[in-house]
Amino acid sequence: MCGIVGYIGRQEAAPIILQGLRQLEYRGYDSAGLAVLDRTGALQVRREAGKLVNLEQALTKAPISGVVGVGHTRWATHGPPSQRNAHPHSSPDGDLVVVQNGIVENFLELRQELESLGYRFCSDTDTEVIVHLIHHYYHNSSAGDLERAVQRAMQRLKGPSAIVALSSRHPDRLIAVRLGNAGGVAVGFGEGEMFVASDIPAILHHTRQMAFLDNRQMAVVTAQGAIFKDLYGRPVQKECVRIDWNPTAAEKGEFRHFMQKEIFEQGRSLTDTLRGRLDFQRHSIILDSLNLDAAQAQRLSRITIVACGTSYYAGLVGKYYIERLARLPVEVDYASEFRYREPLVAPDQMVLAITQSGETVDTLAALEEARTQGAFTAAIVNAIGSQAARVTDGHIAMQAGPEIGVASTKAFTASITDLLLLALYLGEQRGVLPEPQRRHIIRMLSTLPGLAGELLEEALRSERYRELAERYHTYHNFLYLGRNIHYPIAREGALKLKEISYIHAEGYPAGEMKHGPIALIDANMPTVVIAPRDHVYDKMLSQIEQVKARSGPVLAVAHADDNTIRAKVDAVLPIPVTDALLTPILAVMPLQIFAYEMAVRRGADVDQPRNLAKSVTVE
Ligand code: M6R
Repeated sequence: MCGIVGYIGRQEAAPIILQGLRQLEYRGYDSAGLAVLDRTGALQVRREAGKLVNLEQALTKAPISGVVGVGHTRWATHGPPSQRNAHPHSSPDGDLVVVQNGIVENFLELRQELESLGYRFCSDTDTEVIVHLIHHYYHNSSAGDLERAVQRAMQRLKGPSAIVALSSRHPDRLIAVRLGNAGGVAVGFGEGEMFVASDIPAILHHTRQMAFLDNRQMAVVTAQGAIFKDLYGRPVQKECVRIDWNPTAAEKGEFRHFMQKEIFEQGRSLTDTLRGRLDFQRHSIILDSLNLDAAQAQRLSRITIVACGTSYYAGLVGKYYIERLARLPVEVDYASEFRYREPLVAPDQMVLAITQSGETVDTLAALEEARTQGAFTAAIVNAIGSQAARVTDGHIAMQAGPEIGVASTKAFTASITDLLLLALYLGEQRGVLPEPQRRHIIRMLSTLPGLAGELLEEALRSERYRELAERYHTYHNFLYLGRNIHYPIAREGALKLKEISYIHAEGYPAGEMKHGPIALIDANMPTVVIAPRDHVYDKMLSQIEQVKARSGPVLAVAHADDNTIRAKVDAVLPIPVTDALLTPILAVMPLQIFAYEMAVRRGADVDQPRNLAKSVTVE
């Protein structure tokens, strides 16, 4: 969950590393640090607790000049956020530094071993065992061979880790290693300069040519290029991928927060998601990278969706789509539960992961479990080059562009859209979805970005959401209710509110309200209902009556022209009318904006909510 940036070349390393860390701060923001090999050949380290700005100030006071360096932004696992626990961690002689993303699960045992060898620890982190282990092997069995020492040390570690090591004794190289599902390691190729980063946006301003490390691989990176090996030193061939993301897509532009920008660009991101996928002539869906032909689609007996957080809620919407349009049973599982449950997986089953980052540790482990049991594995994934896209039999790229805000927004609507495309594709390939129905949905899908754009533009212009935040920001509890395809939207709306404004919120299936939650309703418990005019509309209206009868305030996501509901509730969050299958994609947008404005009104740090990180690469 931490962010790593490395640079080796001709330019000053510190500003390039800092710029990269700024793009990665969403991965962790407990502390930050950097080490640069100075002009005398010594490693200079600066580390500060708190956000990156503290490190920037420290560097302004005490700059370091040099052309090789590594930086890190931390999400604390072992040891509280503090300067002493900030990365990079150094060897006792100060000749070697290491930054890490991941967890050393056997760190206590290794720490004791190293202490018995005379190493003294200066931090509470697990990372410090890595730097001491490398140092130990370097000066003992590896006889001054840094690569060998790194390999030996990494072979001792249990648990996922991605590291970059830099030694003043080998100033011409950075060594990057990936062990397990610790999150990505991208190696970027420049002209006479090279880059290493946990995530693409950190180095996208400098290069579009990148290669990605797989499990148990390392890169020896010099200014001229990189050599890839496995942990036994055997050469590995790596494909260099061209990344077409626009570097400014990972910048805030005129918006105050990344989350705000990402909410309001959903018209465009949905256009990108649909680009190249709709065949208006044959009324078909094009999903080439899924690698699933008609015969395979017909053989499928069921689909299990595995995901976490917001991606899990997207999966719940996908269940409705796939069961309805492809007539295949779907179960949706938390990846963290699936992986430890000894699940029954059949060879004629598809296990489908949904993951924005493509690096969520539980989701990758669930895929691994499914692959071991012989299922067809697939992923709906946003991050290019990420592990989920590479370890699966087929994938669907979300094409939403980089998502930086910790609270996922545009990736949610992109994944639901992709799930609808998948359901249409499977329906056609399995011969269960007649052409007129496909034609109708494809036509409606083509209008989706425009409808989203209108909804968002109106919201941006109006004062509605700021006024609602003014009215409701002091409440401590919210209930979100939805039914059928909008039940997952209720859960996602509640998650958005709680993760960025720290207000307790529960998302519930509306029909379950009478089985418990109704006991909570009073004037201090607002209820947000998702109530477009669909086949359960009347039931939602009676739900609203029941809340109102108990003096509960009600906010309703409803069709903009629905005067019936407007007369009953305290506030309407309007959405345009479209096909019922597309409504969840639009219905979540007002809930994202509401959560955003509530967090802003409460003075919360929207893009860096406490205790959270963008990709969860540790258990
Ligand atoms: O990258 P992933 O989609 O696998 O991430 C899954 C969750 O960690 C993520 O959706 C998380 O719940 C977000 N904070 C939600 O806004």
